[in-house]
Amino acid sequence: MKKYNCLLMIVLLSFTTFGQGNKYVQGNGKFEGLAMSPPMGWNSWNTFETNIDEKLVKETADIMVASGMAASGYNYIVLDDGWMAKERDANGNLVPDPIKFPNGMKNLIDYVHSKGLKFGLYNCAGTSTCAGYPGTRGYEYQDARFYANLNIDYLKYDWCNTAGINASEAYATMSNALKTAGKPIVFSLCEWGDNKPWDWAKPIGNLWRISGDIYPCFDCEYHHEEGNWSSWGFMKILEMRKDIRKYSGPDQWNDFDMLEVGNGMTVTEDKSHFAMWCMVSSPLIAGNDVRKMSKETLAILTNKELIAVNQDKLGIQGFKLSEDDGLEVWVKPLAEGNWAITFLNRTEEFKEINFDWKKNLIKDVDFGFEADFNTTTFKIKNLWKNKEVGTTKKNFSSEIASHDVIVLKLTK
Ligand code: GLA
Repeated sequence: MKKYNCLLMIVLLSFTTFGQGNKYVQGNGKFEGLAMSPPMGWNSWNTFETNIDEKLVKETADIMVASGMAASGYNYIVLDDGWMAKERDANGNLVPDPIKFPNGMKNLIDYVHSKGLKFGLYNCAGTSTCAGYPGTRGYEYQDARFYANLNIDYLKYDWCNTAGINASEAYATMSNALKTAGKPIVFSLCEWGDNKPWDWAKPIGNLWRISGDIYPCFDCEYHHEEGNWSSWGFMKILEMRKDIRKYSGPDQWNDFDMLEVGNGMTVTEDKSHFAMWCMVSSPLIAGNDVRKMSKETLAILTNKELIAVNQDKLGIQGFKLSEDDGLEVWVKPLAEGNWAITFLNRTEEFKEINFDWKKNLIKDVDFGFEADFNTTTFKIKNLWKNKEVGTTKKNFSSEIASHDVIVLKLTK
């Protein structure tokens, strides 16, 4: 009889546990394999800051499809800071701003998904976001469930108002919370490189920012008096971290920040900015108003050959091979023994290029690739011109305008 009672107890207990739907499994580490090539998409911050709403997102989604951006690979729409109400609700849940998003966030996300696009949101590891909205500190698991219920695909997670907390622990906590909530979500760390995320974030996130914010200029530093911080021209970001290319690769990208193409630089500078982001395998997250973009901006953002360099399956971040009086040569190993080579004119003047392949052995010591033009001849294609331009048997000669790039693809 005693034995029988005991059995009954066990049956009742398991019934209570499972009957309440308690299938809790603690997840650990990032969702693997969500970003095998650098993520591509659009983010609201660079142009709109916190002035975002449902109409903007819907129009952006429509144009991304109609313009061919989506077909070129830009498939994430990410709402940055400013999508929330200033307070959590009585249960501590985040609240999408009801004025900006009158039909709710779920409805909007369903709309974006119905267009074949994916959707991302932003929050911060600190007590509040950089723009002063509710941060996630102390709410990690609750917020992760909120995002999973909304069915988002991407979370950008910032680093403001984090005094006294440890970066790797804070990001690991959120990563585990997302994993526990169970919906695969790309985890984009936005810690600005302050605590070297490339050293510890590989098991935690799919990409990580390596610098402070970008600014739409070639090489400037823009100082924000209020708060005493700087944003950086794209060349500054490119230069900033010379020794971390070996940490970048499929599912673990160094993120050079969102694009400023179409945001006020010259067309030449926009071309160079885009080309360099492709050369270093940065995520390509457009940051312009796509509803008003010029033909030139669209052509830059959707250049198939350049995007192929960025999305190349080796996922190797390119590096600077040489510089001579402001004329730089950048190289990136590509799949099948091919290479991308970019000439970049940093100066204010025209320059002449006369590049003798035979005198320029390319050696990638981090990844073990090599090109010796004395023993191998490559065909050359000029990617912006979409034109075959001979082989590496002859010197490559060209003029190059100030702040311009020439991007070549070398094929065996
Ligand atoms: C930080 C980030 C930016 C943007 C803003 C939003 O500055 O680095 O990319 O997300 O916060 O407030």
